[in-house]
Amino acid sequence: MREETGHRAPGTGHREETRQEPGCAESKSSTEPGARSSEPGLARIAVLRSGRGSNLVALAEACARGEVPAEIALAISNHPAAPGLERARERGIPVTAIAAKGLTREEHEAGVVAAIVAAGAEWVCLAGYMRLLSPAFVARFPQRIVNIHPALLPSFPGLEAQRQAWAYGVKLSGCTVHLVDAGCDSGPVVLQRTVPVLDDDTPETLAARILEQEHIAYPAALRMLLTRAWRLDGRRVVFD
Ligand code: GRF
Repeated sequence: MREETGHRAPGTGHREETRQEPGCAESKSSTEPGARSSEPGLARIAVLRSGRGSNLVALAEACARGEVPAEIALAISNHPAAPGLERARERGIPVTAIAAKGLTREEHEAGVVAAIVAAGAEWVCLAGYMRLLSPAFVARFPQRIVNIHPALLPSFPGLEAQRQAWAYGVKLSGCTVHLVDAGCDSGPVVLQRTVPVLDDDTPETLAARILEQEHIAYPAALRMLLTRAWRLDGRRVVFD
């Protein structure tokens, strides 16, 4: 049976139809006592990342320009020395590192969830986050976790997607913004942008061409999710 779940833009208030995706646990609201409230009309987002942080910067700049009605409430890294943390700090984004070393996945994720809730974030954007989220984490923020992947899913999920696409010999690649489910790069697609793969490309030149499109796609997808009514029709993200 096809399940549909509807959403409305913030400002008009999210419309959460009561039906849940099969397998999704009931979620508590992340706006709990103690959580900071959003500026009116602005969604609060937590960005989870591990590395360079260029997508975090692209999102932050799009928010600052008013193109995405959101504020980045918190940037979380699982590496204390992640280079992009400094770039986030420079933009006034609260940053925190929650090291995973020595912790079980449950313990680490409990810390990440606590930080997201304390920041009052209702959306979670993954941007180069190198850890698979557990089904329990995904169910905690149903259809509120978004990821960007540097290939046209469902082709080339997982690591080194640009190199996979280059080695396969495809003539077109790109990036995909998708909702996160409990699988690896397997959630419903929100937006894709394409790039040509040129004969003289290397994995690195292809990755650079895709990254330019990522910096356009991620803010655009987020803007769509936040400003337009949408619903899941099976695994299709449908904008009304
Ligand atoms: C991007 O290519 C993104 O698609 C992938 O990880 C990379 C992160 O890059 N998931 P950055 O840290 O945002 O620069």
